Amino acid sequence: MPVELCVPNRLTLDSSAGGGGTEKTSQVDVSVEASAEESHVDIIDIRAGQQPLDLATAIRSSLENRNEHDHRTLPSLLLWNEKGLKLFEELTYVPEYYLTNSEIALLKAHNRELAAQIEPGTILLELGSGNLRKTRILLEAIEAQGKRVDYYALDLDRAELERTLGQLVEAGRFEYVRCHGLHGTYEDGQAWIAHPENAGRHRCVLSLGSTLGSSPPNEAAAFLRSWADTLRAGDDSGSSTSRMILGLDGCQDAERVCAAYNDPDGVNERFILNALDNANAHLGYQEFDARDWTVEGHWDAERRRHVQYLVPRMNADIIFPHETDPVAVAVQADERVLVGSSYKFDDGDRARMFRESWLAVVGEYLSPDGSYGVFYPQGETAHSEYSTDMQGY
Ligand SMILES: C[S@@+](CC[C@H](N)C(=O)[O-])C[C@H]1O[C@@H](n2cnc3c(N)ncnc32)[C@H](O)[C@@H]1O
Repeated sequence: MPVELCVPNRLTLDSSAGGGGTEKTSQVDVSVEASAEESHVDIIDIRAGQQPLDLATAIRSSLENRNEHDHRTLPSLLLWNEKGLKLFEELTYVPEYYLTNSEIALLKAHNRELAAQIEPGTILLELGSGNLRKTRILLEAIEAQGKRVDYYALDLDRAELERTLGQLVEAGRFEYVRCHGLHGTYEDGQAWIAHPENAGRHRCVLSLGSTLGSSPPNEAAAFLRSWADTLRAGDDSGSSTSRMILGLDGCQDAERVCAAYNDPDGVNERFILNALDNANAHLGYQEFDARDWTVEGHWDAERRRHVQYLVPRMNADIIFPHETDPVAVAVQADERVLVGSSYKFDDGDRARMFRESWLAVVGEYLSPDGSYGVFYPQGETAHSEYSTDMQGY
């Protein structure tokens, strides 16, 4: 059958599960208490209605209703709170997590060419900016070319935006590149970039770290298409350009992929288990005890993706309050609850994805083994004819 079991995660049953473990080797401090000092970076709250993300309803419905493959799920957004972002950053320093180093190598080798494509005055919007150490490589090349641009890092957690942007600005010493944060979701970012004051400017949308791979190719195509439509719709004058720079993983080597998400020090495991603590925070009570759960990773060869499950060690009744009687969702011991997927888009997936989103790749930089790529698509005008500067995006 298509799903193969990877090297099992090592679970340490101490209170550091999901918290600031003692084994970390990277530069990241994952203790949320030691939050970044108030920084002076410009962070704009673009959340719809400026409301906090509320996942309580989604947690219940995703556990109650199995997906088309008969799995209960938990919203993958639970992975991305402040602690989750710090743990993910720690993961990017793990040698087995090849995605980051592959992308860094490509960005270092081609940052000048990529920067040369960015017009002065551009809004550079990064979707799911995370820790910014890769972005810095591109921004420094733009700075070196003396182009005034506005870089906007979009992500879900304000404290992390302050920390990561603060580090970027301090280390980068930018004169031409102005750095800002956008606190919100992708949808909020799309509404923001369509504002008339932004729509008339050159715009470049950046997505690194194979973030698009959290969705299957058809959904990633729909996502790209909606961004392409937004960018095209906003440019009434046709005088501005719109571009994208996308980092995508296509590795099909099951062993290598599994090793990336099953590191021996358990960083990935703490990252995934943190979703349960975050679920408690959204529910407003301690329903999940991360010590009662394990993490399993599998390579799904048929769908070219790595999947991560949270698995209870014993039968668990997950209780949700209700007006009359509380509702219990019974999850069996060893039942896999899907929390995240990492699709590895091969050549065919990418070709279909770009075709379905009406994007044509006009530049691509591939890692030596061809598995990781930084792609530079631009919009087709009509019937496979596409402009050279994405004016018809
Ligand atoms: C796989 S990480 C990549 C981080 C970084 N770009 C990198 O390359 O290391 C995905 C990022 O997307 C952010 N993210 C996930 N879903 C999001 C959403 N709906 N809206 C905004 N950001 C989101 C996460 O918080 C996280 O920073």
